[in-house]
Formats: sequence, C-alpha cells, structure tokens
Amino acid sequence: MSATATAEKPAKVFVYRHSVLVRICHWINVIAITFLVMSGLQIFNARPDLYWGSQSNFDAPILSMSARNTPGGPVGETTIFGKTFNTTGVLGLSTNADGEFQPRGFPSWATVPSYQDLATGRRWHFFFAWVFAINGAIYLIASLLSRHVWRDLLPSGEQLRNIGPTIWHHMKLKFPHERDYNVLQKLIYLVMIFVVLPLVILAGLAMSPGLNALLPWLVDLFGGRQTARTIHFICATLIVLFVIVHVLLVILSGVWNNIRSMITGNYSIDSEAPHG
Ligand code: HEM
Repeated sequence: MSATATAEKPAKVFVYRHSVLVRICHWINVIAITFLVMSGLQIFNARPDLYWGSQSNFDAPILSMSARNTPGGPVGETTIFGKTFNTTGVLGLSTNADGEFQPRGFPSWATVPSYQDLATGRRWHFFFAWVFAINGAIYLIASLLSRHVWRDLLPSGEQLRNIGPTIWHHMKLKFPHERDYNVLQKLIYLVMIFVVLPLVILAGLAMSPGLNALLPWLVDLFGGRQTARTIHFICATLIVLFVIVHVLLVILSGVWNNIRSMITGNYSIDSEAPHG
C-alpha cells in the first residue's frame, strides 16, 4: 500500500474495551447457552406441546408439533394458537442420522444428544444450567461492583436523544467504530442481562419439583407450571433471536475487530468517528 493511501485513511486508535472478566464470562456464556438451547430442545421433544396455566389442557395447546400419515405420505405439522402449518422436514417430522423420517418436535441437528434420549438431554441441561447461573452471578456481581453497568452499559442522555440517527445508521448498515457501545447495543444488552436471562433462570427453577416444595410461591408467581414452561420457552426463543441478530451485527460491523476485542480486550476505533 502506498504512503499516500495510508495517509488518506483515518488513523486507527486502539482502546481497551472489555475487561478480562467480561471476556471470560462472555465465552463461558456462549458455550453454556449453546448446550442449554440444544439440550432444552431435546427435553421439549419429549412433550412437544406448550400450554398456559397450571395443567396441560390437552384440547388447547398454544403450540404443538406432531406428525401424521396422509395419502401422500407422512407430514410434520406445527400448530400455533390454533393455526396449523406444514413443517415437514424441520418441525414435527424430520430425518434421523440414517436419513429415515421420524416423528420428533425439533430435528436431530438442533438437539443434544441428536437422537431421542430425554435422560441424557436433562443431564446436559442441568449441568450447563449451573454453569450459566454461576457464571451469570459472577458477571453481575463484578459488573455492579466495578461500575461496568453504569460506565459502559447505561446509555447517556445524549445517546438516548440521538437514538433516531443511530437507528438510521443501522438501517443504512453504517457502524462507526467508537469507544463506547452505541445506544441500541446498550439497551439490548441491558434487556438481556437484567430481564431475559434472569427470567429464563427463574422460570426454569419454577419447574423444578425440588424447588416447588421449598419455594411454592415461585410457581404461583408464574401462574402455574405449564405457564412457567411456556415462559421458559419464549425466553429461550428470544435468546436465540438475540444471538442471531448479535452475531449478524458482529459480522457486519467489522468481524475481526469485534472478535479480537472479545478475545484480547483491544478494539480499534476510528479517531474521527462521530458519537452515536
Ligand atoms: C450465546 C449467547 C450470547 C450472549 C447472551 C451474548 C451477550 C453479549 C453481551 C451482554 C455483550 C456485552 C458484554 C459487556 O460489555 O458486558 C456481548 C458483547 C459481544 N459479543 Fe456476545 N453474546 C452471545 C454470543 C456471541 C457470539 C456467538 C459471538 C461471536 C460471534 C459474540 C460476540 C460478541 C462480541 C464481539 C462482543 C463485543 C461487541 C462490541 O465490542 O461492540 N457474542 N455479548
């Protein structure tokens, strides 16, 4: 590259963006959530229906996946609030490792283990639930004590006033590299850290028979066991949606810079980047 071309580029400045604790907790979280989602889908497959309330009202699931035989061959169906969709190959009916069609809620590539085995799925789920909860508690306590939450995650008044232009920048896929997270990142991280992730843990605890005996009010708080299961599933869906958007934005806004910052802590900012 010529000296002129280099001189024309805005100067890059490195900032230390993520503490070692945030980085370690983040990657432990990624591993735990991957196993929790996949083993959770294995557990869901043992009973691929969701209900609202304290009992399974078999006539009125709010979501159900099933397979049935038709003259044209077996089909997989998913019913949401009474509306049925043909989801053959993915939900309700999908192929196993030998390529044979099998009735199952979520397909084998989405579950741990891949074959149907509720007991093993539960073992993976409960192991990583502990990893996730302890890791989350360490992150929360350290982030509150070190003021990471106030310093790096709470949006400033100026950022909130400029939320319109920041949304517009995102729609145009323009991502200035700044020292701070942008306002949309901050808001979504706060919702995940303080609403969705704690709620998925509480709803999970509300389903545990051991805890029902110890803290009977918890399951009542959710309006019954089946509602707790549905809320647990909705939170897990929100986490999966968050991860899809999160990873997409990581890729679009400078994949190596972002990944390097979550590994080494160092993030390169454009020294001339405007605040947004
Ligand atoms: C599995 C679920 C995930 C959750 C719940 C999650 C959550 C978060 C949160 C809360 C932060 C902000 C951390 C803080 O400052 O305290 C963050 C940052 C980040 N995450 Fe994730 N993440 C997940 C998966 C991933 C994956 C799979 C990747 C890899 C592609 C990734 C890459 C990053 C990067 C690069 C940052 C820093 C962004 C920046 O500096 O602008 N995350 N994540």
